[in-house]
Amino acid sequence: MSVLDLARPELLALAGYSSARLEASQGRIFLNANEAPESPVVGADCHRYPDPQPESLRQALATLYGVDADQCLVGRGSDEAIDLLTRVFCRAGQDAIVISPPTFGMYAVCARVQNAEVVEIPLDTTNGFAYPLEAVMARIMDPSASPVRLVYVCTPNNPTGNEVPFEWIERLCLVSVGRCLVVVDEAYGEFSGTASATSLLSRHEHVVVLRTLSKAHGLAGERIGVCLAAPTVIGLLRKIMAPYPLPASAVALALQVLAPAALAATSARIAAANAERSRLAGLLRECPLVREVLPSAANFLAVRFTDPNRVYQHLLSRGIVLRQLQKYPGLADALRISIGTPAEHDELFTALKALAGTRQEAA
Ligand SMILES: Cc1ncc(COP(=O)(O)O)c(C=O)c1O
Repeated sequence: MSVLDLARPELLALAGYSSARLEASQGRIFLNANEAPESPVVGADCHRYPDPQPESLRQALATLYGVDADQCLVGRGSDEAIDLLTRVFCRAGQDAIVISPPTFGMYAVCARVQNAEVVEIPLDTTNGFAYPLEAVMARIMDPSASPVRLVYVCTPNNPTGNEVPFEWIERLCLVSVGRCLVVVDEAYGEFSGTASATSLLSRHEHVVVLRTLSKAHGLAGERIGVCLAAPTVIGLLRKIMAPYPLPASAVALALQVLAPAALAATSARIAAANAERSRLAGLLRECPLVREVLPSAANFLAVRFTDPNRVYQHLLSRGIVLRQLQKYPGLADALRISIGTPAEHDELFTALKALAGTRQEAA
């Protein structure tokens, strides 16, 4: 069985849009795309439509992730890949995705837009938010329930920060063969020491790994995400993808951050962020307002507070913005703190100390 059998059948026959850039990329005088003949900005080639999948960028990403260039699809953040996967593999009103909350919100949003069922099998809130492997496998294999097309595994998970062991992902892949795709979202993979699921790609056509330049590589504003998958899957996603997803200026910046010297600087920043994560966690654990700091392998910490709303409002009044997590199961008392600079954390602490002081005086 091919992974193509899991896709929406009508898309297999769809030719997709054939862009002018794809039809003829070689040439000297381009009169085929109704572009302006000259750039309005000196030195910028912005009057031309960009390459839909720049080979130089795909090659640089392939080297970074240890895969082949034809296993890389670049798009507007990994958000775009989530949307494309949902639209290609889920028949509206028939198919389902499996997610394990609390987790990244876009999986469910994209599924609901596509009118795909969202099956929620929560992380084990009583056991460090462990991934519910057995329950997920049972749901995938249940012949009486709606067909599952995509299973999302977010590792390290947003917003809890914990990881799913590689061996568990491997087991999930084995039971999913011929049933559904396993989408491993490694948006925060650079901050963790666990092996990437990319090594599964050569063995499994139904495994997809999502990576992004938005987090460790510092390019959130440029919107570069990477979907690593079998060329068959990438071919399908490209059929429904916008003709020119990436602006040329964003591609140019991405190539800069993927140059060897920039990658070395990124590694140093990752090490510094991880050290700062440990320092922040240690300081928070001493703070009387804090109930628990969840262990994290990402560039954020989920922190339980005695009074999260008061902390949130107090920090906001001082211009410090955290992420509220009360809508997530098992995290009603938690706030998420992204790892910032040491100076930003010092300010955070000064503000928390001030609030703790007022509480002690009132008591
Ligand atoms: C787990 C996870 N996946 C994917 C994304 C989307 O990242 P981007 O679209 O910037 O690549 C995020 C963003 O916060 C995330 O937390």
